[in-house]
Amino acid sequence: MSSLSLEQIAKNLVAPGKGILAADESNGTMSKRLEAVNVEPSEHTRRAYRSAMFSSEGIEEYISGVILFDETIRQEMDDGTTIPDYLISKGIIPGIKVDTGAKPLSWHEGETVTEGLDGLRGRCEEYYRMGARFAKWRAVIKISGDLPSAAAISVNAHALARYAAICQEQGIVPIIEPEVLMTGPHGLDQCASITSRILKAVYSECRIQCVDLRGTILKPNMILPGSEAEKADAESVARATAEVLKETVPQEVAGVAFLSGGQSDIDATSHLNETNLTIGNAPWPLTFSFGRALLADALSLWSKSDVEGAQAKLRHRSRMNSLAAVGAWSSDLEV
Ligand code: 13P
Repeated sequence: MSSLSLEQIAKNLVAPGKGILAADESNGTMSKRLEAVNVEPSEHTRRAYRSAMFSSEGIEEYISGVILFDETIRQEMDDGTTIPDYLISKGIIPGIKVDTGAKPLSWHEGETVTEGLDGLRGRCEEYYRMGARFAKWRAVIKISGDLPSAAAISVNAHALARYAAICQEQGIVPIIEPEVLMTGPHGLDQCASITSRILKAVYSECRIQCVDLRGTILKPNMILPGSEAEKADAESVARATAEVLKETVPQEVAGVAFLSGGQSDIDATSHLNETNLTIGNAPWPLTFSFGRALLADALSLWSKSDVEGAQAKLRHRSRMNSLAAVGAWSSDLEV
């Protein structure tokens, strides 16, 4: 695996019918998710849950890569194999979240800048030795009143491009994730215009910083109305999402792998499927890099000690999204 080019690794991650499992919740977020299902959060329970998910039989048919958190990439499966080695043995590419979180942006109340550039080169070297071949950095853009500010767009686009350049220099494919949050009462059109703005800024910075887009994957939000606005139908979401991507994403980009962002698991799958059917001849494949939309129900079953049920749930959602990634999903398959 180590001799593959960035472009080849990126292509393998978005191969037809394959997508990414985002299991890189920080310890704080993972602890909240465990507490919500009445499990005491600890290094031990986080490892037990994630190793159970990774050993779901057959997920490698649908999952090309798994994004890990720093704690997890250092942990072991029950038999003592390191988690990255175990994933590699299954034909799954290990990835790693390398940002250190969204922090308050000075003089811009309610907005954040994602940090983690300091020491990133050294961290990438270490993660590469552990087997990671791709990484993730998530910028967070909030729509509210006059927000996002020009400052939030500019600093986050700049940081994403600097992160991408450092990863590529170290042999790691960067997943570039500028997430426009669903939170709020804004409409679909506003989500479309703000998403266009951040994507244009990101690719402008990438050009300045000599990022080779052929060895990158974009992880965007879908174009949706805010969570406090009226829901849009799948056709409208797909049309708007396809339009924004075609207008802003350079054709060299290896692939687009959406985040689920708090949508229900079926909505996320249906929107991915519909966008694939709508977009026609796009220069890049459209797939998934879901966290909650793959794992939420599985976590709930696992918390009730139903490990097999949890693994079957993850396998099912992975298969449904694999079909949606080629526009072959239908709601009849959900029963
Ligand atoms: P969700 O699919 O739960 O949004 O998580 C994806 C992710 O990696 C967010 O950074």
